[in-house]
Amino acid sequence: MIHSGSRQGQRHADVRLKTLERVLSKAGLGSRTEARKWIGAGRVCVNGRLIQTPDHWVDLERDRVTLNGKPVRAGRKVYLLLYKPKGYLTTYKDPEGRPTVYDLLREVEEWVVPVGRLDLDTSGLLVMTNDTQFAERLTNPEYKAPKTYLVKASTLLSDEQLDRLRQGVALKDGPTSTAVVTRVRDSGGRTFFEITMTEGRNRQVRRMVEAVGSKVLKLVRTAIGPVRIGALAIGKCRMLTRREVEALGGREGRGKPAGSPHRASAVRAKDK
Ligand code: URA
Repeated sequence: MIHSGSRQGQRHADVRLKTLERVLSKAGLGSRTEARKWIGAGRVCVNGRLIQTPDHWVDLERDRVTLNGKPVRAGRKVYLLLYKPKGYLTTYKDPEGRPTVYDLLREVEEWVVPVGRLDLDTSGLLVMTNDTQFAERLTNPEYKAPKTYLVKASTLLSDEQLDRLRQGVALKDGPTSTAVVTRVRDSGGRTFFEITMTEGRNRQVRRMVEAVGSKVLKLVRTAIGPVRIGALAIGKCRMLTRREVEALGGREGRGKPAGSPHRASAVRAKDK
């Protein structure tokens, strides 16, 4: 559905065109799977006409899309910081019925996805957003977003062991790159240390600690770049401030004019 006559106008319209299922999910109404179900169930109209094909092309600037008779508008960008507790999966649904991070976001109306993952047994900072470009960039290994973890090891770690973590250890999927490692304290026969690294491979911190002869008893992600978990209570979320979004390379950080702080309807954050 291209409405523009000139080639430039056509290019502009091409950029705006999206499939119907994508429009619904990008508007923050639900996942693409859910959107396909609504479309199939005949709950979605485009310009007053019932459309039951999820890959129907739509130009949201011109076409009028409705779900259950209500107009669908392009979603605003939402950036949340969740303090994920241990025991929650970073997925939408679990076939075994275990709790997921979505159980903690019941008051958030927008459809947000986790930026990267934390293991079931890891707690700490998890960014969730409906800005897919932002999420892709932050999880791209090329972007090298530094992530900081507080680790409780099962044993006392020597300076040598901490040095090995700093310099990189051999894992079965390749050597790890250098990391910043700081001993926090030794107590009760355990070492607590902080590690900041730019990689994010599967169970990487746990495997690194095992590679130097110990085990992780507790793992908490405390920061991504300059964004820290701070005083946020476990299981709670808040909006990232505009400055935090920028610091993580979000929209405004890429040279677009800074708008007002993003606010989700149910969760608010102070603009620091
Ligand atoms: N490293 C791990 O081992 N687990 C996490 O959840 C994150 C980093």
